[in-house]
Amino acid sequence: MSKRQTTSAGAPVPTNETSRTAGPRGPLLLEDYQLIEKLAHQNRERIPERAVHAKGWGLQGTLTVTHDITKYTRAALFSKVGNTCDVLSRWSTVAGELGAADAERDVRGFSLKFYTEEGNWDMVGNNTPIFFVRDAYKFPDFIRTQKRHPKTNMRSPEAMFDFWAGQPESVHQVTILMSDRGIPKNPAHMHGYGSHTFSMWNDAGERHWVKFHFRCQQPIENYTNEEAKKIIGETRESFQEDLWNMVSEGKYPKWKLFIQVMKEGEEDKFPFNPFDLTKVWPHADYPLIEVGELEMHTIPENYFQMVENAAYSPSNVVPGIGFSPDKMLQARIFSYADAHRYRLGTHYEALPANAPKAPVAHYHKDGAMRFFRNDTGNFNAYYEPNQYEDAPRPDPSVMEPPMRIDAEAYRHPQEVTDDDFVQPRALYKEVLSDEGRTRLHQNMAGAMAPCSDSVKERWYAVLERVHPDYAKGVRDAAESAPALPVTPDTPIKAAE
Ligand code: HEM
Repeated sequence: MSKRQTTSAGAPVPTNETSRTAGPRGPLLLEDYQLIEKLAHQNRERIPERAVHAKGWGLQGTLTVTHDITKYTRAALFSKVGNTCDVLSRWSTVAGELGAADAERDVRGFSLKFYTEEGNWDMVGNNTPIFFVRDAYKFPDFIRTQKRHPKTNMRSPEAMFDFWAGQPESVHQVTILMSDRGIPKNPAHMHGYGSHTFSMWNDAGERHWVKFHFRCQQPIENYTNEEAKKIIGETRESFQEDLWNMVSEGKYPKWKLFIQVMKEGEEDKFPFNPFDLTKVWPHADYPLIEVGELEMHTIPENYFQMVENAAYSPSNVVPGIGFSPDKMLQARIFSYADAHRYRLGTHYEALPANAPKAPVAHYHKDGAMRFFRNDTGNFNAYYEPNQYEDAPRPDPSVMEPPMRIDAEAYRHPQEVTDDDFVQPRALYKEVLSDEGRTRLHQNMAGAMAPCSDSVKERWYAVLERVHPDYAKGVRDAAESAPALPVTPDTPIKAAE
């Protein structure tokens, strides 16, 4: 026998098709509260989409620790080889809205929530080891250039390249974005990176600076612009479909977790700022150390509940894992929880996607949607300190060791220097194949085709600092490209 349908208050409903009316032709009676409830719920089905990374795909899975890194961290998760931990992933595009096509050229977000026995640890990374800017002041402007123009309501290549030309340190990331890696086939075929420098501290209170790498165990696969165009013509949901098919067929995507490690104090000897998010640490100097394996094996039962409601934040660390002085990371420590309180509400951490599997015992109190009981376990203990022996207390043993910092608070300018072009040059000349370089030239020339000549020239000047061949390659590709497409920027420029 089928279950009885009920109201949200649990009362059985007699019908789901006929409203209550005064006569056979109406009008409707206001007392048909089931209908009102149904319409009211529909009106409340949406929450604000994420201001960035709105379109996403998620799976649940497991991290298994395969190697001993206890000399670097006291994190309970890594205390023993063989430890396992439930994980919720969310991959995303940055610029597109909730309904955007999956196979767009964009950086991909790579978020992981580790439900460890000492609380949730979130890794909110990307599929690139670096980022466009290295100061949080520039982040909202950068994102603005990736989103819609306020008048045309369309994306604006003019704004994108204008901004990047004004921030030459972005050329490293723009090169990756315009390379073959710019359109991954789906999340199962890309690496993930914590990108920032984080830290780990061990039982002895020693700190190391750490970078996290999730190396994809499936082949790296990407679409060319032409392939992506075709895919998007056929389906906007190619990533979701691929993940669904892979997991349904038991082909669970896997990544190996590695870390790069630098002893605290060594940063002073490093040839550049190791907390600069626009640069990688050379693998030759800081080799990858294997830690564990991530397998994503389960499609969440309800997408909205587990993926849309997922609230990742770089502020979610656990004892043994910490931050670094990277000022972009520092800004993110504030920004994400603030976004969640706005997007999901005060008690977002109690939602199923975010609720820790570790016991929760805090003194935060009421507010909208308080749907958990007293979290202190003793109803008299609703403040702290208090006289109750069973009440939760802070644990000084999880105090992070003191961090040495430069003393002067000041707006230290980070001017663009030749150092900023060393790594993009190596990427361009030494990592990319001849064909890869050609496609990079073509992709970039295509992306900037609608831009004004002055923006183009400023961008070529940036490329020139990376390598003259790069500037020439893109310029030649641009000049041999078909006539400029008509773009939304064109009338605006003409009108000004
Ligand atoms: C100062 C710089 C940054 C700020 C202020 C910032 C801010 C934000 C905000 C407000 C969100 C939306 C969160 C939500 O509504 O749930 C977001 C999402 C995200 N950001 Fe950032 N972001 C910054 C830099 C970065 C960097 C450098 C990375 C990668 C290394 C990154 C990766 C992500 C990812 C993956 C998401 C999606 C999280 C999810 O899956 O829910 N962001 N960011």
